[in-house]
Amino acid sequence: MDYKLKFSVNRQTVKLTIEPYLTLLEVLRDKLGLTGTKEGCGTGDCGACTVLVDGRPVCACLLLAAEAEGSEVTTVESLASNEKLHPLQEAFIAAGGLQCGFCTPGMLMSAVAFLTQNPEPGETDIRQALAGNLCRCTGYDKIVRAVQVAAREMAHD
Ligand code: FES
Ligand code: FES
Repeated sequence: MDYKLKFSVNRQTVKLTIEPYLTLLEVLRDKLGLTGTKEGCGTGDCGACTVLVDGRPVCACLLLAAEAEGSEVTTVESLASNEKLHPLQEAFIAAGGLQCGFCTPGMLMSAVAFLTQNPEPGETDIRQALAGNLCRCTGYDKIVRAVQVAAREMAHD
């Protein structure tokens, strides 16, 4: 039986009739066209699919869309506003925190949630916060640097 889902995505109310077995990742990408969120492993191991659900980072590949009923989901598409990139996006570019970019949306969403809770993080805190987000390209140092730069930038906003 189909499921009538109502939730918020990037501050917009969304109502959809979906198959109850669809994951949040499938609904975001395939039903809503929000392809910024990536599918890497599909098993909760890589973090490429990280989105925020009520402000907390979750692997969208592990959550049934129906479980997001009534929640506020935030994806990477929400970060830039009025054609201006988010300070984290700017910092990732400036620091070389991305190469192929496949991990980047998930990294950014984990980092956004982390910096909201920890506006002045140390390097170890950043590495721990991003431990669930795998990157096959950068070696992580530039990503950590980008988050440090963004934290400083956001503190001055
Ligand atoms: S695609 Fe969800 S954790 Fe890898
Ligand atoms: S930039 Fe390629 S996986 Fe991270």
